[in-house]
Amino acid sequence: MSLYFLLPSSTIRSETKKTIKSVVGGQERVDVISRCLQNLYRWQKRISLDICLILYLSHPNELSVIHIPISSIKTELRNELDSVREFLAILSNPKDYGLKFEKISFAELLENLAESSVFYYFTPEGKPLEEHDKAIKKEKSICFVLGSQHDLTQKQEEELYNKDASPISLGKRDYLASHVITIACYYFSKL
Ligand SMILES: C[S@@+](CC[C@H](N)C(=O)[O-])C[C@H]1O[C@@H](n2cnc3c(N)ncnc32)[C@H](O)[C@@H]1O
Repeated sequence: MSLYFLLPSSTIRSETKKTIKSVVGGQERVDVISRCLQNLYRWQKRISLDICLILYLSHPNELSVIHIPISSIKTELRNELDSVREFLAILSNPKDYGLKFEKISFAELLENLAESSVFYYFTPEGKPLEEHDKAIKKEKSICFVLGSQHDLTQKQEEELYNKDASPISLGKRDYLASHVITIACYYFSKL
């Protein structure tokens, strides 16, 4: 089974100069996605599923996507600093990883992904994960969609529901994106 985690970020820019110091200071909230990368990297070692982080840059001057298969990361990510370093390297030199940014609208991206995956959308308005058990076990490829430091916009939500996304709730408490990823991966580790 393949697991995709699609996160839109309206703040990350592909070509701005960023350093460890500026990221730790909160620049573009790169830290949010670095933390997700770190989590996915750890889980990739623990569960035998193909995991890919799909980052959609939704800033109006970007509107582009980069697919980061976790298997493309060859450096050991021992801690958060390692993962910030690695993420900055991917953003500034995607070619070195065999990756690229592709200009695309969010709706088109969903259209492409829908050819091989079904969507599950993390939102407190959804149904508990356990209620999706039966359906999830039958899937070959799942694309989980979740917000980064912000929730999805209403338009992104509508486009996602147009693609028959199933909403999953983890309860009424708000979790960080990286925590949601951990809960999802833990769930798969127990399947
Ligand atoms: C840090 S949150 C986004 C902002 C947050 N909702 C707020 O108001 O501060 C990251 C994302 O994780 C997912 N998420 C967080 N808590 C959740 C929950 N209880 N159930 C389902 N998804 C959740 C949502 O997709 C959310 O957009």
